[in-house]
Amino acid sequence: MQTHEIRERFIAHFVNAGHQEVPSASLILDDPNLLFVNAGMVPFKPYFLGQQTPPFPNGTATSIQKCVRTLDIEEVGITTRHNTFFQMAGNFSFGQYFKEGAITHAWGLLTGSLEEGGFGLDPDRLWVTVYLDDDEAAEIWEKKIGLPADRIQRLGMADNYWSMGIPGPCGPCSEIYYDRGPEYGKEGGPIADDNRYMEIWNLVFMQNERGAGIGKDNFEILGPLPKKNIDTGLGVERVACILQNVDNVYETDLLRPVIDEAEKLTGSTYGAKHEDDIRFRVIADHSRTAMMLILDGVVPGNEGRGYILRRLLRRIIRSARLLGATGATMEQFITTIMDTMTPSYPEIAGSRERILQVAVNEEKAFLRTLESGTKLFEQVAAEAKNEGKGVVGGDKAFTLHDTYGFPIDLTLEMAAEAGLNVDREGFESLMAEQVARAKADSRAKKHGHTDLSLYREWVDNNPTRFVGFDTLSNEAKVLGLVSNGTKLNEATEGTPVEVILDETALYAEAGGQLGDRGVIRTGDGLIRINDVQKIGKKLWIHKGVVENGHIEIGNAVTAEVDPAWRHAARQAHSGTHLIHAALREVLGPTAVQAGSMNKPGYLRFDFNYAEALTPEQMEQIQAITNQAVDADYQVNTIETSLEEAKAMGAMALFGENYGDIVRVVEIGGPFSMELCGGSHVAHSSQIGPVAVLGESSVASGVRRIEAFSGLDSFNYLAKERALAAGLASSLKTPTEELPDRIAQLTEKLKAAEKEIANLNRQQLAAKTGQLVEQARDAGKFSLLATTLPEGTQAGDLRTVATDLKNRMADKAAVIVLAAPAGNKVPFIVAATASAVDAGVKSGDLVKLMGTYIDGRGGGKPDMAQGSGANAAGLDAAFAAVAEELAQR
Ligand code: ALA
Repeated sequence: MQTHEIRERFIAHFVNAGHQEVPSASLILDDPNLLFVNAGMVPFKPYFLGQQTPPFPNGTATSIQKCVRTLDIEEVGITTRHNTFFQMAGNFSFGQYFKEGAITHAWGLLTGSLEEGGFGLDPDRLWVTVYLDDDEAAEIWEKKIGLPADRIQRLGMADNYWSMGIPGPCGPCSEIYYDRGPEYGKEGGPIADDNRYMEIWNLVFMQNERGAGIGKDNFEILGPLPKKNIDTGLGVERVACILQNVDNVYETDLLRPVIDEAEKLTGSTYGAKHEDDIRFRVIADHSRTAMMLILDGVVPGNEGRGYILRRLLRRIIRSARLLGATGATMEQFITTIMDTMTPSYPEIAGSRERILQVAVNEEKAFLRTLESGTKLFEQVAAEAKNEGKGVVGGDKAFTLHDTYGFPIDLTLEMAAEAGLNVDREGFESLMAEQVARAKADSRAKKHGHTDLSLYREWVDNNPTRFVGFDTLSNEAKVLGLVSNGTKLNEATEGTPVEVILDETALYAEAGGQLGDRGVIRTGDGLIRINDVQKIGKKLWIHKGVVENGHIEIGNAVTAEVDPAWRHAARQAHSGTHLIHAALREVLGPTAVQAGSMNKPGYLRFDFNYAEALTPEQMEQIQAITNQAVDADYQVNTIETSLEEAKAMGAMALFGENYGDIVRVVEIGGPFSMELCGGSHVAHSSQIGPVAVLGESSVASGVRRIEAFSGLDSFNYLAKERALAAGLASSLKTPTEELPDRIAQLTEKLKAAEKEIANLNRQQLAAKTGQLVEQARDAGKFSLLATTLPEGTQAGDLRTVATDLKNRMADKAAVIVLAAPAGNKVPFIVAATASAVDAGVKSGDLVKLMGTYIDGRGGGKPDMAQGSGANAAGLDAAFAAVAEELAQR
């Protein structure tokens, strides 16, 4: 049975039983504690915790959620069942059916016949585990389902108690396993062998709230949830592995084509050699994960999500090379996986070009470092051989890893090919040091942040009402005060303070727009607010200092936005939308937003694009943006469902959840339509001029465009204009003729410089004859060591030295010329044929001189050139050459 069909049967089973079908959420949700969505229940967390009412008619839902877990990345390909990307099929009950319902549903689908829409699994092959003291679940399995008691095993908290987040829902669980037969391991059920008995479905009986603690079995249970819920997760890939009767998840229908493609591209054969098989599986698994991450907006980078993507892509490239690929392979891998995944994820179709571009760019970049890393490796290997050591130092392996992105096994493999060993221990200890440094750093960062649990009570009970789209000041009540991580009842003059209000007009930083500046006035006091941040999307934290008087919990206050700040912030934010729209018009739809920031007067916008923009493209973007300003478009905001917004064609980054009410900001209808919670002008002409400053690269494949908005644009343009006017007046040329005039002057200057160089050369040539007379005896050699005028170029030194060498060809002569300029000394050593026959090596003399004038260089025995940084040592250098020759 194809994976696609497994998905369909799952959904149909639960929809028939009254569950609402919910589409998969993005892999990236707006949760700083979660790198990627890693379980089907993640988007439903607020419903489990009772923070929001589930919007499903029967209080039940079903979904197939995209999940990424990269903790076990090293296990990929080694075990038969670890995927970094997988699809978790789940059914959820929010206060409706509980243990019995969950168990009967799961059993019905797994063992139901194919004709009935089930998976047709042999009931005799199914085993289950339950939590230690969960007699209730054990009894349902035994009495209701009729499972023999010896196929029900009990496990402790580490295995059979599931939780998500701190705080988060948790509860005992019951897992269902499939016995794959004796060829996969020993008898005895899942507690004896989890390879033979493969876990396929986890039923979690969510009933408690978990608190702080470590790991899976050492945390506090805070108390019962408002209702008893069901969360389940069926591993779609694992069921596919069983139903397709293949050995492991990498050989299932969606991934196997990538292995086949890899065979073609590398010349290796799958199934021939265990180490190679692991690499094939890594390629298949990682290609899919990387593709799905890029689809959801991740771009390769050096930290967080971007780093994980980069690591996945590099592991693909490395594996392909170890299998024998010599050129690029990414395009074929990604294309293949897009083909197999598109039937289940039709949105891939519209993003193919962009996904390919991101993945292939990363490959190009890595292949370049791979090349320089390989050069370094070859050098290191040659040294190791010359020194007769046969070992590549740990420090070298570390540099290869750290600077060139060489995974250690690549270095090991290359060393083995060269007949060398690698100092693994030295490498590991350097790695450990680096990890320790990184940990210390992240601890420091954490401690720098306030403990968010401090705000818990407000987050839960009193979300802040934001009224600042319609008004710039409001009456409010002080609900809380925090200073330096401690709650206060009141704060007096000079205290840095965070103020929590029931209602506010001040905008909190979000969607790239900085928080408002403003003031909070109490009866006798004024708190100047210089930043506003949000916690948990709902709670506004006004950060500032008590400038005078005091503030106290319960105070009636007014919150006032600085109107000038907000005016300019609106201009910048609306300006950002126009730039985004203009960019897509000029560059096409692959220029997808990768981040943005705007504050009064300034904006920047990051987007995926492989190349630098041309001046013409920049001009076009600026022109389209300002035409949109001039068109005086009305700016409309529409609140609607996510589905509706997408249907309207609004651009969304990621992070929105199914069922969320979203805000669409529309400027000029189809011209610009984005999901956005920011503050905007009412008409586009209010943005004022937008002056593009430039564009640059922020990461591989990501460009940044920066611009001024409003009055800052005007000021910037006025300054540029004054600059041009100043130039025009000093060059006595009308402004519009400046470029021609400057080009002319530059031409003239170049010609004059050429002329001077020619004259110098002629003068030198004329003097060369006289120079010969300065030759002195140095032992059996004739030595001519002298300086030439400042400004003599390296090329001229060579001409003069060659000339002198010819003139003195009948002698064993050595010529040393230097042209000091400040501290710098370009210099040259030349030797006639008979001097070379007598053993003189010009290169050695250059090195000898270098020790006196802090120089380096080299060349052939008859001529070598160098450059020094200490002209003061020149006389000593000449003397050393004379002495060296005299001793021969
Ligand atoms: N949330 C449960 C899991 O991920 C079903 O295993």
